[in-house]
Amino acid sequence: MENRTIQVAILGLGTVGFGTYKVLCAQREEMLPKLGVQIEVKKILVRNVAKAAAKTGHPELITNDWQEILQDDSIGIVIELMGGIEPARTYIEEALRAGKHVVTANKDLIASDHGRLLDLAKEHGCDLMFEAAVAGAIPVIAPLKQSLAANHLSEVMGIVNGTTNFILTKMAQQGMEFSDALALATELGYAEADPTADIEGLDAARKVAILASIAFNSRVSVEQVATEGITKITANDIRYAHEMGCCIKLIGMAHGGDAGVEAYVAPMLIPLDHPLAAVNDSYNAVFVRGDAVDNAMFLGRGAGELPTASAVVGDVFEVVRNVVHGCCGRISCTCYKQLPVVPMENVKSRYFLRVRVEDKIGVLAMVADVFARHQVSVEQIIQKQKDGDSVEIVVITERVRGGDFQKAVHCIEVKQNVRAVESVIRVYGDAE
Ligand code: NAP
Ligand code: HSE
Repeated sequence: MENRTIQVAILGLGTVGFGTYKVLCAQREEMLPKLGVQIEVKKILVRNVAKAAAKTGHPELITNDWQEILQDDSIGIVIELMGGIEPARTYIEEALRAGKHVVTANKDLIASDHGRLLDLAKEHGCDLMFEAAVAGAIPVIAPLKQSLAANHLSEVMGIVNGTTNFILTKMAQQGMEFSDALALATELGYAEADPTADIEGLDAARKVAILASIAFNSRVSVEQVATEGITKITANDIRYAHEMGCCIKLIGMAHGGDAGVEAYVAPMLIPLDHPLAAVNDSYNAVFVRGDAVDNAMFLGRGAGELPTASAVVGDVFEVVRNVVHGCCGRISCTCYKQLPVVPMENVKSRYFLRVRVEDKIGVLAMVADVFARHQVSVEQIIQKQKDGDSVEIVVITERVRGGDFQKAVHCIEVKQNVRAVESVIRVYGDAE
């Protein structure tokens, strides 16, 4: 290769952008022996030029003019780390149309548009890589597309949001209520100023859409991922879970079966002997089941400056290797099937239910009867502590259809002598 330098541009110099700049600088001495070429950051696009110039100490690299990067034919790779949908989408499309390869960590955009963007990349003979968009530092996209490609996968489930895992860990280990654990996550910088996307499960849903699409070779959009966050989980739920030998985790689930793909995000009771139960604090993990590999789990940092940059720069190196060997666009969109996404009423699950009722003869029997009439098979039904003239009834069901269970719960809710359904949480159990 005559020109032994590949020029790149970084769009955005925030947490991940600056981390990526630092990791590329730290790898400078290793690039030639590792890759056969040198990677040079030619431009960094930001809004606030002065701030970025001071941050890097290299004002000549900084611009606020996208055209300066787009029209520079010497820039071969664009690393998009601005976030959000626009202008990121437009810049990525324009870069691909100009024959520039793209690496991005943008889960919002990839979750909503990855099929179309991958098709565009293919049309222009470019690579589009997004390892950092799911579970930050943890290699999971490349393993699913490459190392595990010889499997029929049946399940990809994960803890893919660090903020909520931190909150649930503090609730479990220190008996905190949700609001106190969220306040601590904010104080320590885990939770964003507006934590809604994390605590309501939307951030995890974006990652599930991407994971499910890749795992089952069939496009799943974020709108098809049923999403429930952790705001209703109480310290009391966690204590009950512990009594049952479980913890509570926010699980992103992608399950493949005869009826299609099941894709959802929900808090779930996980048996303490499951590998995901040991994943605490802000760590992420993705657990995979396949017909050949059996079980495998990927664990690590799901966010943060250098961990996320590790995945971004790993993708940049992969693109550079492809450029050096003249084989870009090797692994494009892998969605060659069109599987239905199973409606949630048909998804089967075990459930944990806590209901407060008046302490009267026949109430326990009434609850059991409603479940029986809705084809909900009960595994355990226990009357717990008395509080004045009310008692708590705890029910664990067998694996039942979501629709049947919800109808039974609505029926119980409106019964005389029922004060409140206090919690409904899925219980993880191997699918039949
Ligand atoms: P961030 O700290 O908010 O940084 C965003 C950067 O982009 C800032 O430098 C900002 O410049 C620049 N920017 C935003 N809009 C721009 C525009 N229109 N034109 C030019 N520059 C613009 O964000 P981040 O946390 O690094 O996240 C970046 C991406 O990585 C997002 O897609 C995010 O979802 C993804 N991600 C982040 C993490 C993480 O740990 N943070 C983990 C995985 C994935 P100014 O400062 O000049 O405004
Ligand atoms: N907000 C995310 C989390 C990190 O808490 O895991 C970026 O994906």
